[in-house]
Amino acid sequence: MTESKYHEVQAEVVSVKELKHNVIEAVLRSKEIAKNTKPGQFITIQVTNKDESVPVLRRPFAVSYTKGDDFQIIFDVVGRGTDILKDMLKAGKKINVLGPLGNGFNTKVNGKEKLLLAGGIGIAPIKKLMQHFTEKGDQVTLIWGNRDKSGFFDIDFFMDQNIKLFVATDDGSLGFEGNVLDILKAEIKNNNLKKINDYNIYVVGPGPMMKAVADYCTEMDHYCQVSLETPMACGIGVCQGCAVKKKKEDGYFLTCVDGPVFNSCSVEIP
Ligand SMILES: Cc1cc2nc3c(=O)[nH]c(=O)nc-3n(C[C@H](O)[C@H](O)[C@H](O)COP(=O)(O)OP(=O)(O)OC[C@H]3O[C@@H](n4cnc5c(N)ncnc54)[C@H](O)[C@@H]3O)c2cc1C
Ligand code: FES
Repeated sequence: MTESKYHEVQAEVVSVKELKHNVIEAVLRSKEIAKNTKPGQFITIQVTNKDESVPVLRRPFAVSYTKGDDFQIIFDVVGRGTDILKDMLKAGKKINVLGPLGNGFNTKVNGKEKLLLAGGIGIAPIKKLMQHFTEKGDQVTLIWGNRDKSGFFDIDFFMDQNIKLFVATDDGSLGFEGNVLDILKAEIKNNNLKKINDYNIYVVGPGPMMKAVADYCTEMDHYCQVSLETPMACGIGVCQGCAVKKKKEDGYFLTCVDGPVFNSCSVEIP
């Protein structure tokens, strides 16, 4: 079940930045959310248009970073809800936020080096996880993959962190040519990375990417933690709309309360 009690707050919009076309970074102020959110947990935002003619929708987003009483979200504008949200976010305005929700990453696994794998906008929750580990002084390797170089944003921020950073693109337009799993295997082979079993591994990205990494981990007698982005209606375990199949037993998990983070051995990645 949900790790911590969640709060419904009116969070003030502190700042909004378009990191690249239709990728928005917003900083919101709420002590309850900023202080209580663990890496991998999420919030839902109530989205309504100006005349409130659109039925109230809540949309889920990862918390990407926290500082003092402020927390950050980063999102892709992909449809109606995120399109309206983009217009709603104006500095000084208050928006309705519910969180923190769900179970985040298990960051307390044994002290191996941390290997963080992000595909596309999957970098959003990974960023908060990176913040957690770097603030603790853990050794972090981040591999971020995109279809092409236009998928990257804020790359200077990641280059400024005290981490080992690798980037990959399917078309080779930036960094390694290939997907996240291809670069992972190649860098292990080149001795730039350790053997897969020497890492605690955390993966967020499109389903096929997480599935490929999870299958590789299984092949190597290892596992990873994956964060699922199953579409959600309520986000709090009521509507049953976010069910995902369990792996080695019958039944389903609810992504919103049992996840969104799962051990790759326990869940069928959609
Ligand atoms: C726990 C969780 C955390 C998330 N964190 C982030 C985040 O940090 N940044 C971010 O950009 N997005 C995140 N998402 C996805 C985000 O919630 C959806 O993109 C958003 O709800 C789409 O709303 P919409 O009304 O704009 O799109 P819709 O009109 O509902 O859909 C537009 C298109 O997007 C697809 N879509 C809708 N929801 C999802 C989804 N969950 N995953 C993949 N495709 C989807 C639809 O199939 C459709 O093709 C997260 C989702 C979950 C469940
Ligand atoms: S979104 Fe309603 S139960 Fe998970």
